[in-house]
Amino acid sequence: MIEFSHVYKTYSGTVHALKNINLNIKKGEFVFLTGPSGAGKTTLFRMISAYDRPCSGHVQVGNYKLNEISAKEIPTLRRSIGVVYQDFKLLKAKTIFENVALPLEVRGEGETVIRKKVNEILDRVGLVYKKGKCPDFLSGGEQQRVVIARALVHQPGVLIADEPTGNLDPHLSEEIMDLLENINAQGTTVLIATHDHNLVKRRNKRLVTIKDGELSEGAA
Ligand SMILES: Nc1ncnc2c1ncn2[C@@H]1O[C@H](COP(=O)(O)OP(=O)(O)OP(=O)(O)O)[C@@H](O)[C@H]1O
Ligand SMILES: [Mg+2]
Repeated sequence: MIEFSHVYKTYSGTVHALKNINLNIKKGEFVFLTGPSGAGKTTLFRMISAYDRPCSGHVQVGNYKLNEISAKEIPTLRRSIGVVYQDFKLLKAKTIFENVALPLEVRGEGETVIRKKVNEILDRVGLVYKKGKCPDFLSGGEQQRVVIARALVHQPGVLIADEPTGNLDPHLSEEIMDLLENINAQGTTVLIATHDHNLVKRRNKRLVTIKDGELSEGAA
């Protein structure tokens, strides 16, 4: 489903962000990616959705070989992936419903489909009853659940979440992880980058570690 083969990424000729990355993630897997700040986690994620290209090596996501992907195919690739960005913010002037509806509106979906899909996904994250509120009226954990709903509203096969619990206390972080496990149990492939070793330790999931751009299976 997601395959990295001998992938290298160097920025500005001197910053070796990824070094010989080999990684194979199967459909339906749940994988934690951990490693210190600057290790290359976000760089690796950006490659999966073709925001960055390898300097050498190959990346394949589903049927797409990302070294060869055409500009025309990129939107279709991105539709198959839901992304929770590291510093993602909700639009404060819009309601929860409107925030979650946005990716569907951008894709030109009709109002009936939007209403159905947004209500379904808000129900899955337990926030239908807050759909008319603006983000400032929600707790940090609730806001992060909205961000996850927004990443999932177009029903992608893969969810990648970059530090989805970065700003949350331990209790809320566990709640978000429960939600992500639940989403995975329903068939979505889930890949999560996190600094939080305690969070990873408590869950019996595949763990890959990246350090100075080099990847290894298991804890560092
Ligand atoms: N656009 C860029 N230009 C130059 N260097 C970059 C760029 N993006 C990332 N880097 C460098 O590549 C390395 C890996 O960065 P990356 O953002 O992938 O780390 P990370 O593991 O996500 O860190 P964090 O946990 O702090 O988010 C770092 O040394 C970073 O400074
Ligand atoms: Mg990062």
